[in-house]
Amino acid sequence: MKRHVLHPLWVAVGVVGLIFLARLVLVPDDFGVHGDSFTYNYYRLGNIDEWKNFPVKYQGSDTCVECHKDNVRTHRRSPHKRVQCENCHGPAASHPDDIEYLPLNRERAMCLRCHADLDYPESSARSNLPAIVDRHHKRRRECVTCHNPHDPREDVE
Ligand code: HEC
Ligand code: HEC
Ligand code: HEC
Ligand code: HEC
Repeated sequence: MKRHVLHPLWVAVGVVGLIFLARLVLVPDDFGVHGDSFTYNYYRLGNIDEWKNFPVKYQGSDTCVECHKDNVRTHRRSPHKRVQCENCHGPAASHPDDIEYLPLNRERAMCLRCHADLDYPESSARSNLPAIVDRHHKRRRECVTCHNPHDPREDVE
């Protein structure tokens, strides 16, 4: 064969060889088919234990009632009832044992995550959320100076 045919051929063979070598080194030993179906059982076996040991970060609003009855009661009657306590207060799995005081985030940005006036399509449920324009709505003051976060219908004195 002519050299201009052979040269690219060796390069191609070399590249394929390198790919196989890299696969041999990089793919973990326990990666493969674990079960009878290739479609659903092609995975890394060690990943099962990794997910089992994944630390839980949230405890859910129902657990707060034991110690914060008043807040839970107010919250349950309010338009914010669908918003989990930990959505605003952060993960609380180790509260109150390790972290006695969960941080109180009073920044405007915390509320604007949900209430910023963005151009959602009307078909989206998100467009029903009451929205404000940051620059025009009571600028620079914390939202909670006027709105009670646990029941935003209420004014704060
Ligand atoms: C076993 C009781 C207990 C549970 C359950 C509990 N807390 Fe607390 N929490 C406390 C104690 C004790 C404090 C310390 C301050 C106090 O006494 O109010 C505290 C403080 C807080 C604070 C800070 C209050 C402040 O004035 O700085 C927040 C916010 C809070 N908890 C939210 C929550 C949320 C949200 C949940 C549910 C995910 C929850 N807590 C579950 C006992 C509990
Ligand atoms: C929409 C966000 C939001 C949600 C949802 C929310 N909080 Fe709060 N929470 C706040 C903010 C902001 C403050 C600080 C208010 C302030 O200082 O004026 C606060 C204050 C607190 C405090 C300390 C002051 C107080 O009122 O006693 C506790 C305790 C608390 N929240 C518990 C809860 C619990 C329990 C839930 C769920 C039932 C919950 N929060 C849901 C935003 C939220
Ligand atoms: C995780 C999303 C989320 C966050 C964060 C959030 N809200 Fe809301 N807010 C909602 C939802 C959902 C409603 C209820 C919408 C409805 O169904 O009417 C609502 C309703 C309101 C309303 C309208 C109450 C009425 O009169 O009906 C105000 C005001 C409000 N929120 C203020 C705040 C403030 C202030 C904060 C920050 C402390 C905040 N929100 C944080 C989701 C959120
Ligand atoms: C100085 C007090 C004040 C501050 C600070 C303030 N608000 Fe308001 N907010 C009001 C008043 C009063 C209204 C009702 C009249 C109006 O729309 O101006 C209102 C209305 C709203 C509404 C519309 C409620 C509805 O039913 O449509 C939302 C949502 C809202 N505020 C969220 C926020 C958020 C989020 C922040 C912080 C980024 C914030 N507000 C800061 C006083 C305040």
